[in-house]
Amino acid sequence: MKEGRLGKILSVFKGKKGGLISILQRVQEEFGYLPEEALSEIAVFMGLSSSQVFSVATFYAHFYLNRRGDHLVRVCQGTACHVRGARNILETAQYKLGIKTGETTEDYKYSLERVACLGSCALAPIVVIDDTLYPQITTKKMTEILASVSDCEKYEGTELRKR
Ligand code: FES
Repeated sequence: MKEGRLGKILSVFKGKKGGLISILQRVQEEFGYLPEEALSEIAVFMGLSSSQVFSVATFYAHFYLNRRGDHLVRVCQGTACHVRGARNILETAQYKLGIKTGETTEDYKYSLERVACLGSCALAPIVVIDDTLYPQITTKKMTEILASVSDCEKYEGTELRKR
């Protein structure tokens, strides 16, 4: 990995002091998450232990240690969304994608997250897929949106049924 994409990133930071967070951000931009192998190589590059780098990577919620899907589906579970049925929306998304919250489909197309208030309570309940906000979602709309983003029928309930 060092000679390839990671090597190029590290070369930019060569000779500079500090910068672990910047390196982690740049690596995540490149790979979509922080591969374990990359964390080890970053530790060597920085003269730190692997556990020090791992601690920083796990401290910040915006760093991901597992590969995520091409599309990120975020279902708000804040108070305003909750009282307007956000729980059913989340369950619909789980069923349609065949994964639980925090998981990624086997083909790495979708990751599903529950989030706290996204600051658009007047539009509750809301769902955000990648950078698009979907207001006043119903379970029917959730189904339609997922179907329009991609052919999600193939996931429907598969993983959930296995458990
Ligand atoms: S509670 Fe969902 S946007 Fe505020």
